[in-house]
Amino acid sequence: METASVAPETELKVSVMAENLIGSEIIKLAGEINEKIRNGEKIYNLTIGDFNPKLFPIPALLKQEIIAAYNNDETNYPPADGILPLRQVISSLLKNKMKLDYPADQILIAGGARPLIYATFQAIIDAGDKVLFPVPSWNNNHYSHLSSAQQLAVETKAENNFMPTADELRPYIGEANLLALCSPLNPTGTVFTKEGLKEICELVLSENKKRAHANTKPLYLMYDQIYWTLTFGNTVHFDPISICPEMKLYTIFIDGLSKSFAATGVRVGWAFGPKKIIDKMKAILGHVGAWAPKAEQVASANYMKQENEVDAFLVDIKGKVSSRLDAIYKGILSLKNEGYPVNAIPPQAAIYLTVQLNLVGAKTSDGTVLSNSKEVNKYILSEAKIGIVPFSAFGSSADSTWYRISVGTCTVEEIPQLVSNLKNALSKLQF
Ligand SMILES: Cc1ncc(COP(=O)(O)O)c(C=O)c1O
Repeated sequence: METASVAPETELKVSVMAENLIGSEIIKLAGEINEKIRNGEKIYNLTIGDFNPKLFPIPALLKQEIIAAYNNDETNYPPADGILPLRQVISSLLKNKMKLDYPADQILIAGGARPLIYATFQAIIDAGDKVLFPVPSWNNNHYSHLSSAQQLAVETKAENNFMPTADELRPYIGEANLLALCSPLNPTGTVFTKEGLKEICELVLSENKKRAHANTKPLYLMYDQIYWTLTFGNTVHFDPISICPEMKLYTIFIDGLSKSFAATGVRVGWAFGPKKIIDKMKAILGHVGAWAPKAEQVASANYMKQENEVDAFLVDIKGKVSSRLDAIYKGILSLKNEGYPVNAIPPQAAIYLTVQLNLVGAKTSDGTVLSNSKEVNKYILSEAKIGIVPFSAFGSSADSTWYRISVGTCTVEEIPQLVSNLKNALSKLQF
């Protein structure tokens, strides 16, 4: 009797979307580094946009409230848009801290920012629509893919701190359905200037005036401000609505606890924007079931109500993050002053430092020539024991000489050693 041949699992057919979905480049890189760490190597892993909870614990009060919420059996389904007290607290925080007017019914809670970004794309994009975004940037390519959108990626420039300008976006604005912006920006840790953001808003508004006549879908703006509380020195966070109130009709904000409160594993995020869009996002996420856990919602509401506690935590975390960013920045500049082909952009915000390693073409001690940013990255990992992420992993061209350093997992004390390791690795190269 003939037996039907069974295809091995790897040959099973799946959707074209799933087949072509690319995993996170950074998580892949972090996996390789963790393998080295497991093998006993001392690596400074500055790749992942996360915090070491031992160095950056969540607010003690938030933790207490989470435990209390479970003790109070807050364990059933939350409402699809999030519990009202949390939406009310966020509404008043937006009013007090950003002078933004969003009632609770224009705020949607989810299990972190990611589902909200997904829902924004799903609520706006039809298959084949175009999403315009700057690169380097975080995951816009993946969210576009998930919604079968065409990607219009615009490469930004170091002299603009890698923030997009209206002039760079203008050629694509007429064909785009969604403009995805982020400030402070992952991976650069830089922010929009007021003027820079205003020019972009004016571009969107003038495009939408044209579309209003044609009665077509407007150009929406997704404004991801998940890092907005983490600004340092004189840096100010600007948002589209405060600069151009007419943008309120087209802007969906993405925000959450993850970065501000070092609470990446707590999973509470929020979006706010036009009620119609927020309601559609709620319906989409209701089916996905991407709610923030009820107990975390109750706890977040109780915690964020206490604005003095929140403010004190933010002062503390900002001090901790900026002291790390400053120390690495100064270290890189000292190497630059010694003549090494490195540079860095002064830190402005978030948990990232933008560093240039101009090493393509350099020869290692065994005669190998470093021919692209991936090889440079590998060299720095093996010689300096430092894991960083090339901007090419955020969509920049493969020959970009820029890298992201993330500081949520390092101590201030280890930074001198880290800089000295880098110097040592650089000094072994022939240029
Ligand atoms: C710009 C940006 N938005 C959103 C997120 C995701 O946030 P969450 O962990 O709340 O899903 C990240 C995480 O790295 C991010 O960098």
